[in-house]
Amino acid sequence: MTGGGKTAATEGAEHAHSGRELNLKEELALTAEHLRVRYRNGALGVLDVSFSVPRNTVVALFGPNGAGKTTSVRAVSGFMKTEGNRTVAGRVTLLGTDVTNSEPHETARMGVALVPERRKVFPNMSVVENLLALGHIPRRSQRANALDQVFELFPSLTTRRKELAGRLSGGQQQMLAIGRAILGRPKLLIVDEMTLGLHHSLHAPLFEAIRAIAADGTAVLIVDESTGFALNVAGYCYLIAGGQVRDEGPPERFRGNELLAAGYVGGL
Ligand SMILES: Nc1ncnc2c1ncn2[C@@H]1O[C@H](COP(=O)(O)OP(=O)(O)OP(=O)(O)O)[C@@H](O)[C@H]1O
Ligand SMILES: [Mg+2]
Repeated sequence: MTGGGKTAATEGAEHAHSGRELNLKEELALTAEHLRVRYRNGALGVLDVSFSVPRNTVVALFGPNGAGKTTSVRAVSGFMKTEGNRTVAGRVTLLGTDVTNSEPHETARMGVALVPERRKVFPNMSVVENLLALGHIPRRSQRANALDQVFELFPSLTTRRKELAGRLSGGQQQMLAIGRAILGRPKLLIVDEMTLGLHHSLHAPLFEAIRAIAADGTAVLIVDESTGFALNVAGYCYLIAGGQVRDEGPPERFRGNELLAAGYVGGL
């Protein structure tokens, strides 16, 4: 790992923008530096994890089960704190502001949206009601436009606007969960295990949406076992194992060795 509070993605961003003045505070949506996170029961969720997510970029975290991927994404979005767990060392910076150990409502206000594992939609509410449930678009006059953006991203939801979310397929529920998250126009969208348990045919459209969201200016952090697709949309990747970053680099570094990206091979 690189010292001095800089990760290689930071340096990559600097490099990519060489030739013009770069304000890293603006370009980097998130930096997590040397995080050590402890669960309330004393278990260490991660030992030492550093990563960063530039704007307009998809960053992927790979690694085997129990590596610390979910702990990492929950720590940076504040969801560890609410349960009495804690980041005991390291620093999380969002758009230049230190948010280490902030609460989820604070990180949400600053522009972080986390779509957790097992996509949580409100099953007894319709698709449109789900999209509006978080109050992201308080003004009625703006609702139609905002909702149209979600339906443009996920056309298969268009004809199901009034359907109860609980009656949607798993893939459509995931689309709904992501659509609801982006209605708040997050600066950083985090999606944990987006394709888990979903039919393979759904992976391409979901990753295409992730690519479009990043292209629109949002920083996106994903954790996904569908490594082939994840490598295709990612601009930078980290391999986490045993609570530490074991390797990092652009997707080319991991492509062709997707088992390694998934952390299934020995030596880790
Ligand atoms: N609620 C919890 N309480 C205590 N320890 C936990 C808790 N959740 C996870 N851990 C531990 O923290 C470590 C990291 O787990 P984490 O869920 O972050 O891994 P992961 O990389 O997301 O794995 P997976 O691929 O299975 O989702 C593991 O050792 C795990 O046992
Ligand atoms: Mg996980």
